[in-house]
Amino acid sequence: MSLSKRDIFFSHLAQTSPLSLALEVSRAEGVFIYDTDGKRYFDLNSGISVSSLGHRHPKVIDAIKKQLELYMHTMVYGEHIQSPQTEYADLLFQHLDNSLDCIYFLNSGTEVIEAAMKLSRRVTGRYEIVACRNAYHGSTQGSESLRSDKEYSRSFLPLIPGVRHIEFNDFDAIDNIGCRTAGVIIEPVQAEAGVIPPAQNYLQAIRQRCDEMQCLLVFDEIQTGFGRTGALFAHQKFSVLPDLLCLGKAMGGGLPIGALVGNKKTINTFSRNPALGHISTFAGNPVICAGAKAVLELLLDTDVVKEVEEKGKYLSDIIASHNIVKEIRREGMMMAVELEKRKYLKHVVQRSFELGALIDYFLFNSRSFRLAPPLIYNFEQLREAGDILLEALDFAESQYSKS
Ligand SMILES: Cc1ncc(COP(=O)(O)O)c(C=O)c1O
Repeated sequence: MSLSKRDIFFSHLAQTSPLSLALEVSRAEGVFIYDTDGKRYFDLNSGISVSSLGHRHPKVIDAIKKQLELYMHTMVYGEHIQSPQTEYADLLFQHLDNSLDCIYFLNSGTEVIEAAMKLSRRVTGRYEIVACRNAYHGSTQGSESLRSDKEYSRSFLPLIPGVRHIEFNDFDAIDNIGCRTAGVIIEPVQAEAGVIPPAQNYLQAIRQRCDEMQCLLVFDEIQTGFGRTGALFAHQKFSVLPDLLCLGKAMGGGLPIGALVGNKKTINTFSRNPALGHISTFAGNPVICAGAKAVLELLLDTDVVKEVEEKGKYLSDIIASHNIVKEIRREGMMMAVELEKRKYLKHVVQRSFELGALIDYFLFNSRSFRLAPPLIYNFEQLREAGDILLEALDFAESQYSKS
């Protein structure tokens, strides 16, 4: 007898935790994901901040199809001139500060962080990397070494040496950035810690210290990029410029791509002494770059980003006054809903799922759930999704109010 998809999934596909949601997907469109029984789910996660333009945006699909007719892979990154890459760069750099004028395409967020660490060391000749506690930058060995949770990282020793942790938003800790520091890798808004915005002038103070110590400031905008916080990039919202900008997730409209952005002199350090200092076979894949360019065009040419703040507030206001909601931390449409008690959390997540709304946990915050909906939600859809959340919150509360 042949195995069901579910059996194969659990027997033959690698599991990342014992608690997979195991939603059996049949298709996804706009803000909805449908399971194989035809049940519709509001996507309130965007596949962890990826599907910012919703699922299968027609313009993104068109761009991908057009490129498929021309060529897919022709050569490893950096050897052939491919218009999806050059057109992307041309468009992106019209919307970034002039000091950011060179892009190294990669395939995923963690690879971008790895490249940023290597480049910081290469450019400064120093080795120390400063990162924040409770930040997540990826799962490859270098990015993993930036994780502050020793209980976790103990399983993967030895980590790369030279990582120093500071507390996010602690002004006194900034002094730990010193003359041995090669780079400071920081999220402008901490994502997996449960959406922690920067304190006023915090990012400016980090910038100033990096300038004094002549080390690189690296912003990980892998979650905050591409409109999520209400500006095209969060560093623009907070008016602080990084030396290196790390991009990923929403960049590809649902296909895997990331990029390290900096100034030409810095990024081109990879090409000399030694040449081929960083190379990647599939980076800058032309089909994905064509889709990514359509994503960027849509963000620039429509009101999607302009409406993020209003929509984020609208959804937040629907649930903010519920009895068991303690606080909502929010930057645009990136939200953490903190509950009065930790024990409510699993009930809210599970009940939302049953009622047809997908929400998720954070890696480093066990009291809050994540809301990062596609930015294209309309207000009616937000109302409907918000009502589901209210019902799930009621359910969680009722689990502990029975005498
Ligand atoms: C802020 C941040 N940086 C880096 C990464 C790693 O990206 P990827 O999973 O594409 O390797 C993530 C992934 O969740 C992230 O949230």
